[in-house]
Amino acid sequence: VIRGVVFDMDGVLTDTLEFHYQTWQRLADEENIPFDRKANEALRGLSRRDSLMAILGDRMLGEAIVEEMLDRKNRYFLEFIQTMTQDHLLPGVLDLLQELRSDGIRIAIASASQNVDLVTRQLGLTDWVDAITNVYNVPHPKPAPDVFLYAAEQIGLPPHQCIAIEDAESGVKAALDARMWVVGLGPQERVGAAHVILSNLNSVRWKDLLDKIQCCR
Ligand code: G6P
Ligand code: MG
Repeated sequence: VIRGVVFDMDGVLTDTLEFHYQTWQRLADEENIPFDRKANEALRGLSRRDSLMAILGDRMLGEAIVEEMLDRKNRYFLEFIQTMTQDHLLPGVLDLLQELRSDGIRIAIASASQNVDLVTRQLGLTDWVDAITNVYNVPHPKPAPDVFLYAAEQIGLPPHQCIAIEDAESGVKAALDARMWVVGLGPQERVGAAHVILSNLNSVRWKDLLDKIQCCR
């Protein structure tokens, strides 16, 4: 039986990709490092540090400089987050949470974002979830399974009783390796490894989702 759902945040509950893009672009421009939307797409689901490493490529910088860039990027990002409200929830999210609640399903958020608590609050979701975890609570970021394993522990369930919902290739891998049932949101090229693939959560009914998962067991 499925008794819990673990949501990724960015790209699943809300679309922060554009905010991340704008802020990485600003930093890259300041540092004269080439960057564009296509490069940003590859950062989906990666931690802030792993994202910066990908942007820097083979440029070798000292730790203090790296730290300063990470802080600066986040300062820019926080400016966007301040403007977020419940209107930034992606379509279908609230309806699905409502169904999960009335079905007694435990709900967690497992994110690669250090800003997960703040964003959850801005979105008005704090009271909707039983646990919030991020990659800084665990030894290894996604694609390692750690953050999903920790989320399952936080809601008191074995991973195989949980469905994870993810939009990133790294996140799908993390959830699969945690032995959860995985719903991938997005194109086949990105989330094709998931058990069930959907384009988004718009109009997704909990019962239908359970049926789809049932089919692959
Ligand atoms: C999410 C996003 C990534 C982002 C990461 C870290 O997983 O998909 O694009 O880099 O969170 O976010 P943070 O808020 O800690 O910079
Ligand atoms: Mg994501």
